[in-house]
Amino acid sequence: MSLPSSSQAVFEAGPSTPSRKRSRWEPHEALHDDAEMNEPQPPLKRRSKSKGTSLSDPRSQAVTPEPRSQIRVVVERQRPRHSIYVPPRTHHPPLTPSRSVYSYERLNSIEEGSYGVVFRARDKETGDIVALKKLKLDDEKHGFPITALREVNALMVCQHENVVGIREVVVGETLTQVFIVMDFIEHDLKTLLTVMPAPFLQSEIKTLLKQLLSAVAFCHERWILHRDLKTSNLLMNNRGQIKVADFGLARRYGDPVGVGGLTQLVVTLWYRAPEILLGATTYSTAVDMWSVGCIFAELLLKEPLFQAKGEIEMLSMIFKLLGPPTTTTWPDYSLLPLANTINLPAPHPSQLRQRFPHISVAGIDLISRMLAYDPEDRISAEEALQHPYFRESPFPKHPDLFGSFPSVAAGEKRRKHPDSPHAPVRAADYKLLTEFDAP
Ligand SMILES: Nc1ncnc2c1ncn2[C@@H]1O[C@H](COP(=O)(O)OP(=O)(O)OP(=O)(O)O)[C@@H](O)[C@H]1O
Ligand SMILES: [Mg+2]
Repeated sequence: MSLPSSSQAVFEAGPSTPSRKRSRWEPHEALHDDAEMNEPQPPLKRRSKSKGTSLSDPRSQAVTPEPRSQIRVVVERQRPRHSIYVPPRTHHPPLTPSRSVYSYERLNSIEEGSYGVVFRARDKETGDIVALKKLKLDDEKHGFPITALREVNALMVCQHENVVGIREVVVGETLTQVFIVMDFIEHDLKTLLTVMPAPFLQSEIKTLLKQLLSAVAFCHERWILHRDLKTSNLLMNNRGQIKVADFGLARRYGDPVGVGGLTQLVVTLWYRAPEILLGATTYSTAVDMWSVGCIFAELLLKEPLFQAKGEIEMLSMIFKLLGPPTTTTWPDYSLLPLANTINLPAPHPSQLRQRFPHISVAGIDLISRMLAYDPEDRISAEEALQHPYFRESPFPKHPDLFGSFPSVAAGEKRRKHPDSPHAPVRAADYKLLTEFDAP
């Protein structure tokens, strides 16, 4: 795995930002800036003033008889293009001000999530239909929240065919009106699973899971943890394509972490890995893979795998399904901060086969490797993509062959699922920009 250059990726993402109308002075000013940087001294001005230039100076001979424009060319050829210490302006990131939200016509609200409102809208210039997510900044007392910056940064770093495309960030009239503009995607998997009359076919589940895994592998390769993978954060278009969305809890991993480690206020309860439930403050890509395992199970069952009301109930549901952890299945279990507060049930074998009677041996193997207790042992997204489950019959269905469904998001306001838990409260995770723990 090579070290990612997130800043480079961010700036390379420039072209996806719709071009802004340029006033006439802008290109002229840019040239002017470059010219100034390329010429450490302003030789022309001084030369034109100095009447007593020596004839023996070869430069003065070149200068005197020629028109001003030609002189510039001669002088520039002799001098370096720019300071060797300061890169030319063209190498700097293309920093442009955000457009106004009024560049979009609001069509309907799709959903009010825990931290933002999502609208469907039309770009007035191009006619494109997009989704606008309004970041909830109204209650923010400490400046622009780092979580919002992380969300934008992660979406830009993780540009992939199975990650929702970010187009730009637009602003309203006040400082609390900031919107992420994304491609509009017709469905989210949670709503779709609730309204579909029958569950997805095995061949369809394989296609969806492969797409999810390739998006997750891509993010992990770029050092981004999603930390809130769940069916309501997986969008699906009418061409059978999954798009991972809602990077509101995402962050870079591998960076030094602050005192106290990584927050445990991540991942919606039903999809939360046991190491986080047991208080681990260092965790990694395996937490996303646990969530992928829960999503795989949900696609098979057409309902969430663990529907617990609290963390203790969640742990006991996990222990019941998989059998309690042992020193073989999770050697470091006893080292976890909350391990000694939990009474483990009597040892019993995994109940996965009973819970999923219709999938193949390879399917059971894949789900059990995603739901492995020991994070070190849990399958990675890259490995999972190579699993025999995807190479046996029924083969993954081509996305073009998926049926299309009427889009609830394109119509009236979406029905909420009051029984589903939300992403953890992130207020505690908000930090000032001045802190070193930047995205
Ligand atoms: N690009 C999009 N196209 C269509 N619908 C979208 C898009 N992005 C988000 N949505 C819809 O809006 C919902 C909420 O979006 P999102 O998950 O990004 O917000 P949130 O406030 O972080 O939500 P939560 O905290 O409840 O997960 C999604 O579940 C999905 O139904
Ligand atoms: Mg969400």
